[in-house]
Amino acid sequence: MSVPAAELRAMLRARELGASVLGTTSPNPAVGAVVLAADGTPVGEGATAPPGGPHAEVAALARAGERARGGTAVVTLEPCAHTGRTGPCADALIAAGVARVVVAVPEPTELAGGGADRLRAAGIDVELGVDRDAAEEGALAAWLTGVREQRPFVVWKVAATLDGRVAAADGTSRWITGERARAAVHRLRATCDAVVVGSGTALADDPQLTVRDAAGAATGRQPLRVVVDRRGRVPAAARVRDDAAPTLVSRAGTPAELLAELYARDVRRVLLEGGPTLAAEFLRAELVDEVLVHLAPVVLGAGPSLVGDLGIPTMADALSLRIVDSIPLDGDLQIRLRPTRHTGGDQHAGGGS
Ligand SMILES: NC(=O)c1ccc[n+]([C@@H]2O[C@H](COP(=O)([O-])OP(=O)(O)OC[C@H]3O[C@@H](n4cnc5c(N)ncnc54)[C@H](OP(=O)(O)O)[C@@H]3O)[C@@H](O)[C@H]2O)c1
Repeated sequence: MSVPAAELRAMLRARELGASVLGTTSPNPAVGAVVLAADGTPVGEGATAPPGGPHAEVAALARAGERARGGTAVVTLEPCAHTGRTGPCADALIAAGVARVVVAVPEPTELAGGGADRLRAAGIDVELGVDRDAAEEGALAAWLTGVREQRPFVVWKVAATLDGRVAAADGTSRWITGERARAAVHRLRATCDAVVVGSGTALADDPQLTVRDAAGAATGRQPLRVVVDRRGRVPAAARVRDDAAPTLVSRAGTPAELLAELYARDVRRVLLEGGPTLAAEFLRAELVDEVLVHLAPVVLGAGPSLVGDLGIPTMADALSLRIVDSIPLDGDLQIRLRPTRHTGGDQHAGGGS
């Protein structure tokens, strides 16, 4: 398929717009849209509003106004053809008079599907699958996991020393990383619907698990705080149970049960913040989709390691991950990884010690 450069640039921007509303749209997808005038100039941008509000295409069309006529709408997800809490986006595009619609990801649900067909039936040129992988791995990943697996997407975030410790031998863990990495965690929380810890972390660190600004004040929408506490050990006075944000104390027996409970509450993106025991259970169950390690250049030599026992007896069975990207956060390093869902033996054969 040959797609003009202006449309590819618009698609990149649409992905950014989708990412900018991550954490505010669940259970709906975080979609981005850009409308180009007939001469290729961007004339309107939009992203999915919180549930009940306008979808990305409708917001972008509203900004473009008459300039959309004869132009192109560039959208990360196929425009819907059904009436939910809002009207069909396909009809809005037809009414606006666009000549072409460029889409990254075809709509995977039957309920909302048929948008491309409806547009084509109205004489609009439709291109599906443009930069599809990038859109699927980006802001749509959480929603797509929900559609395909009926569970939330799980990001496991952990702050570790160079020797992989998440706390010192005496239990202290504040702070392993510097200010910039910690600020990044607050921004990350804001992109999630729920933040999860085990009772061990709640008891050891008494974290508040809210989204806070540099001055320490709670800011913006707060994700659901979740403590998995099967024996009811976390006291009523724990900070995670204060009124700064909603809290769920779950007795779910397994990660899968917990995710089912959260999915039923419209949670689509979970931030698993530890600790090593709960993280190991999620990894054993293959329920970690992305790993964010904040690696600090300090060494402890003792203390709990970043993940508990995974029952892996030998090198060939090591859990294998792919590095997606890495960025410095002042003195620390953020490494983003995705499990490759197979053991490392073959992939690393001959790779040295
Ligand atoms: N550096 C970091 O990023 C970071 C992050 C988090 C924690 N930490 C450190 O980690 C340490 C705490 O480690 P931890 O392993 O005790 O914390 P944890 O994993 O948060 O909590 C473990 C507890 O979770 C409960 N749990 C609930 N569901 C479970 C399941 N499906 N499988 C297993 N356990 C489940 C268990 O207690 P019940 O059976 O009673 O439910 C278990 O004892 C602290 O020193 C803390 O500072 C560091």
